[in-house]
Amino acid sequence: MAQAEEVRSQKSGAGGKARRPTVPGAHRIEALISEERIRARVAELGRQIARDYRGRDLVVVCVLKGSFVFTSDLVRAIDLPLAVDFLRMSSYGGGTESSGSVRLEFDVTQPLKGKDVIVVEDIIDTGNTVRALLDTLSAKKPASLAVCALLHKPEREQVHVPIDYLGFTIPNKFVVGYGLDHAGKHRNLPFVGVVG
Ligand code: IMP
Ligand code: MG
Repeated sequence: MAQAEEVRSQKSGAGGKARRPTVPGAHRIEALISEERIRARVAELGRQIARDYRGRDLVVVCVLKGSFVFTSDLVRAIDLPLAVDFLRMSSYGGGTESSGSVRLEFDVTQPLKGKDVIVVEDIIDTGNTVRALLDTLSAKKPASLAVCALLHKPEREQVHVPIDYLGFTIPNKFVVGYGLDHAGKHRNLPFVGVVG
C-alpha cells in the first residue's frame, strides 16, 4: 500500500480556513484537511495509479454517493485510457454510526469480467462497506481488484480490509466535505472538515 499522509489533529492538520456554513442552524465545521492538501495528494495517487496500471484495462468504480467528488478529481489525475462506473452501497441512515448492515442499492452497468478494477471509496470506517464491496465485485470475476480510499479511520476498524491506495489516515472524528455528508449535507465543501 502507498504511504498515506497522516492527519494528526485538527489544528496541525488543517492548513486551511475553517468555514462556517451560511445555512441557519448548520453545525460549525472546522477544516481538518485543506483543499490544497487534498489536491496534492490526489495528484500523487493519480500518478501512482497511472504507473501501476499502464497497459491494463482499467475500470474505476465510484461508490456513490460519498466518492463522487474524489473520483472525479482522481480520474482526471490518471493519465491513462480508463472507464468509469458507479454503484451504490448504503450502510448509514442519517446518523453518524454505522448500522453494520450494508446493502447494494444499485450496481455497475458494464461487465467487469477480465477488467482491472479499482473501487474508490470516500472513507473506510469500520470496514464493513469495503468488505461487502469486495465480495460484490469479486463475484464479477475481474482480472484484478484494488481498493482506493481517500480517508481511513484505523481506530474504528472492525473488519480488516486491504487498502491499495490511501489518501490520508485520520483520527476518530466524524468528517464531512469533499463528497462526505452528515445527514445528506456538506458534500459540496471543497475541504474535509469536522462537524462541531
Ligand atoms: P464503514 O462500512 O463503517 O467502513 O463505513 C463506510 C461508509 O460510512 C463510508 O463510505 C461513508 O459513507 C460512511 N462514513 C463513515 N465515516 C464517516 C464520516 O466520518 N463522515 C461521513 N461518512 C462516514
Ligand atoms: Mg460511502
